Amino acid sequence: MNKIIQNAVQFVKEKLDGAEAGHDWFHIERVWKLSKKIAKTENCNIEIVELSALLHDIADPKFHNGDETLALKISRAFLESQNIDEKIIQQVLFVIQNISFKNRGEAPETLPIELKIVQDADRIDAIGAIGIARTFNFGGYKNNLMYHPDLKPQLNMSKDEYKKSNGTTINHFYEKLLLLKDLMNTEEGKKIAEERHDFMLNFLNQFYKEWNVD
Ligand code: ADP
Ligand code: NI
Repeated sequence: MNKIIQNAVQFVKEKLDGAEAGHDWFHIERVWKLSKKIAKTENCNIEIVELSALLHDIADPKFHNGDETLALKISRAFLESQNIDEKIIQQVLFVIQNISFKNRGEAPETLPIELKIVQDADRIDAIGAIGIARTFNFGGYKNNLMYHPDLKPQLNMSKDEYKKSNGTTINHFYEKLLLLKDLMNTEEGKKIAEERHDFMLNFLNQFYKEWNVD
């Protein structure tokens, strides 16, 4: 493995020590692996893909009082410490700044392929069996209800409403997880997302069946 990537792995592991289980080193490792898998099918700069995947959740605003600049500051400091080209640094920071689902309304219309790849990888890790586990873990961390039959999903929430939402974890499927399949950027991403999407639909069917005992 390239020395810079090796240093990035070490840096991220240390920074995310003790993080919430859905946004910890293992999430990063899965997104990094998925990014490399998708990158093989696209014409891209693999260094930018790998560094962006490794650094993309280094300081998620939802765990840092909403601070949206911290991740960029920490990432820049790390990248500069590795003597990486300023041009590459800017491209990595651009990915980190624009990858998020809740910021999708603010992102530029044309996205570089490296961003498309890491965004697909991050979204794939939000769906399927792992996605379900992460979502219930996060809901538990926030002390949200798993489900309430009278609380309907809030579609079209503004970024602010989405961040503040204390809705149920099942509603999060309709507010985000089930939308991701159609937001995939790459062909490889779409392929992987299909199977995971179907698994979530099966999960929801079974969940309602077990909830509504008659
Ligand atoms: P991003 O970090 O891409 O903007 P989110 O803020 O939606 O995405 O969070 C990433 C993951 O955290 C989600 O895929 C989900 O697993 C979990 N999560 C976020 N918000 C909620 C919520 N309201 N209920 C349950 N899980 C959530
Ligand atoms: Ni992520």
